[in-house]
Amino acid sequence: MRIGILGTGAVATALGARWANHDLTVAGRSPANTRALADRLGATAATLREAVTNSDVVLLAVRWEGVPDVLAAVGDALRGKTLIDPTNAVEHGVGVLLPGTSAAEFIADRSGARVVKAFHLFPAAQWADATGTTVPLCGDDQDALDTVAELVRDTGATPAVLGPLSRARQVEEVAGFVIGLAFAGVNPNSAVPST
Ligand SMILES: NC(=O)c1ccc[n+]([C@@H]2O[C@H](COP(=O)([O-])OP(=O)(O)OC[C@H]3O[C@@H](n4cnc5c(N)ncnc54)[C@H](OP(=O)(O)O)[C@@H]3O)[C@@H](O)[C@H]2O)c1
Repeated sequence: MRIGILGTGAVATALGARWANHDLTVAGRSPANTRALADRLGATAATLREAVTNSDVVLLAVRWEGVPDVLAAVGDALRGKTLIDPTNAVEHGVGVLLPGTSAAEFIADRSGARVVKAFHLFPAAQWADATGTTVPLCGDDQDALDTVAELVRDTGATPAVLGPLSRARQVEEVAGFVIGLAFAGVNPNSAVPST
């Protein structure tokens, strides 16, 4: 699979390392960070737009505040592409979502991409060995869901399709719940039923 990774931070690094069996292209706003991550992953360094045009699947591993700028830089190249959205548009430490639509639907509206919400619920370190982890997916396009499910399995985790992209807001709320409890010093696992 040809995968374009937008962003050079913790999520880009962790997932890129698990997708070494694929053809990776990395791009970020910093050329130095882009080169450093590309060298680390054995990937190609590119501009944001090149990383999209040279790929079948795109991971948008960018902090929420940078998402509009990155989508603008990429322009119409995302139209019809499979895009993985792991973003959390939450205020860290508070866990409150931004008002309005889900982050995933915002990204789909702006880009025209076939967006799949995935990988947003766990810390990046989880992907080093995600055996026993379930990754919920939301998306409207079956081919895109199948593609992202395969990339979830590459991490050792198991994919579970929750429903269409209209349910992304629900899983984004869960991230707000988890982050809010974690910052309050509570283990979120202790606050949900185990069965
Ligand atoms: N870290 C986690 O454990 C985790 C878990 C689940 C979900 N997420 C979500 O995944 C996404 C990536 O998180 P991360 O932890 O990888 O973040 P990160 O380590 O801070 O890296 C984020 C990337 O976003 C870029 N960026 C930040 N502001 C930008 C802007 N205004 N314009 C363009 N690029 C910008 C950074 O570029 P520079 O290097 O130039 O600053 C960097 O390449 C976020 O939406 C986060 O909420 C993170």
